[in-house]
Amino acid sequence: MGRRFFVGGNWKCNGTTDEVKKIVKTLNEAEVPPEDVVEVVVSPPFVFLSLVKSLLRSDFNVAAQNCWVRKGGAFTGEISAEMLANIGISWVILGHSERRLLLRESNEFVGDKVAYALSKDIKVIACVDKISDWRNIVIAYEPVWAIGTGKVATPAQAQEVHSALRNWLLQNVGADVADSTRIIYGGSVNGANCKELAAQPDVDGFLVGGASLKPEFVDIINSAV
Ligand code: G3H
Repeated sequence: MGRRFFVGGNWKCNGTTDEVKKIVKTLNEAEVPPEDVVEVVVSPPFVFLSLVKSLLRSDFNVAAQNCWVRKGGAFTGEISAEMLANIGISWVILGHSERRLLLRESNEFVGDKVAYALSKDIKVIACVDKISDWRNIVIAYEPVWAIGTGKVATPAQAQEVHSALRNWLLQNVGADVADSTRIIYGGSVNGANCKELAAQPDVDGFLVGGASLKPEFVDIINSAV
């Protein structure tokens, strides 16, 4: 089964209204392969989700960078999966290593978040343990030493880990899931190194941080072909 290339842009905690509009303009004017060839999802901070959703071209999707572990209520500062669904956001990034390291999110907690988001029909970009419906999951492999450092994994290093992850899926979940689940790489991906990484058989796309705020994000999308 062919796996559709996936490029996620994680804007992290960056941007002003003007900067966000500028990035969206660049994306809207970009010439990229059709959406059946590459799936593009950008992830602005919560406060810009509706703005980006309203301005962004319809062949690109929008993800939140986190959501609460269960139904909303008395949880100050949190955003629920129901709220994301209510404003038409169809993706969320869960379990990013920055949240695991800085906010002490555990595997268990992230796993519960993933299960809850999936139950509300939000698709998840994640690397976690509690998954029953693999159709709506993209797994992101991000070596922590490569995040925001300018030190990218070599294509061989990325391929080795992606292949091991796919093998884990094969042994523990099943051949169909191993064959169809997209495993994407994150960590200092840029316009110059994306092509060689994209050529690896088990690298099905990218989760891009810093470079997703720049015009070179379009080159990364185009590395799909
Ligand atoms: O979510 C994205 C990753 O953490 C990679 O970030 O491309 O700035 O290294 P980076």
